Amino acid sequence: MSSAVEWINIGSIDEIPLRGARRLCVTLNGRPLAIFRTGDDRLFALVDVCPHKKGPLSEGIISGTTVTCPLHNWNIRLDDGKAVGPDEGDTMSLPVKIAGGDVLVGLPVETGASV
Ligand code: FES
Repeated sequence: MSSAVEWINIGSIDEIPLRGARRLCVTLNGRPLAIFRTGDDRLFALVDVCPHKKGPLSEGIISGTTVTCPLHNWNIRLDDGKAVGPDEGDTMSLPVKIAGGDVLVGLPVETGASV
């Protein structure tokens, strides 16, 4: 599998609430994506699907670098998408960078990203 990514500009960091999230209009193989902003201003991108029963993580509560799923309260780490134990499972995490004040999310080029 190639590690090449296509960087997608998703707009200004100001459009992402502090300690909040925003679902993107970009999908990855039909799966929704979301960007998360922590209280200390770090950004993370995940496939917006809880590994438990597919809850929308972007509607959860962010605490530190985890998000609590709104459906059954699993905690998911924002940095790697893994469930915090004792729960098990993960959702895909994607690279994020800032360029010129805009937020870019890296999508794997060989997968079916669509806008
Ligand atoms: S769907 Fe997320 S905790 Fe159940």
